Amino acid sequence: MNADPMPRGFLATAAPMRWVLWVALVLLTGVRAATNAPPAYEFHPGSPDGLGKWYLGREIAHYMTHQGAPWLERPEREEEERPSRLMAALEIQPGQTVADVGAGSGYFTWRLAQAVGPRGRVYATDIQPEMLSLLRTNMTQRGLTNVVPVLGDTHDPHLPTNAIDLILMVDVYHEFDHPYEMTAGLVRALKPGGRLVLVEYRGEERWIPIKPLHKLTELQVRKELAESALHPLMFVTNRTELPRQHVLVFRKTD
Ligand SMILES: C[S@@+](CC[C@H](N)C(=O)[O-])C[C@H]1O[C@@H](n2cnc3c(N)ncnc32)[C@H](O)[C@@H]1O
Repeated sequence: MNADPMPRGFLATAAPMRWVLWVALVLLTGVRAATNAPPAYEFHPGSPDGLGKWYLGREIAHYMTHQGAPWLERPEREEEERPSRLMAALEIQPGQTVADVGAGSGYFTWRLAQAVGPRGRVYATDIQPEMLSLLRTNMTQRGLTNVVPVLGDTHDPHLPTNAIDLILMVDVYHEFDHPYEMTAGLVRALKPGGRLVLVEYRGEERWIPIKPLHKLTELQVRKELAESALHPLMFVTNRTELPRQHVLVFRKTD
């Protein structure tokens, strides 16, 4: 007895069609997977300052070790980077939740903590426990209690989901060992409408006395963030005038 509820004639003509549909589906899934797949990292010999690992044509820089922390706190930084100008441009509101990703010794963390005030909170992340230890001392000396130090890893900032109004990364993104995965994690952490702010030494200007791999061009940043895993980022502005750095602001869309 034929248990198939479909008429024989239909099956006879439908079987080849089903093969065609199967092949089309497999091909389409493959193409979709290919377009959604992260761009591959490439590995080949590079600069002594780099990892020998490349992302979209850029060699990733070695991260600055905690032995370099005094450089982060150098007095000339005030003139070279104008941190107060940057802080004013960020327009942070009291009570907001912000993150200082790659916070180092906390040069920007305490400024952020003052800006959000006692009702706000600053998550300060780094991958080096030694940096976080310097940061804790810095915050204690300043009597700031609204800072939460977070030990991140190279793939994940370890921040809460949909919780952050603004993420600041000063001189950090170019050191991300896994920029694609980190950006995905940062996007997850932002509230809808939240801002991701990259401050990087301008790669377009040779006179800026910073090693080449520790600078970035605007074009490169836009290219890399356009690949962000969730694609909800929108470029906003870089009009803030700092002497040596870009301020590149992206917003998470709904
Ligand atoms: C050049 S320092 C800048 C520190 C701080 N933002 C400042 O402006 O003073 C870069 C910091 O980023 C940290 N870093 C590198 N990759 C990181 C990652 N995936 N997640 C968090 N921090 C990272 C390094 O450990 C280092 O402390």
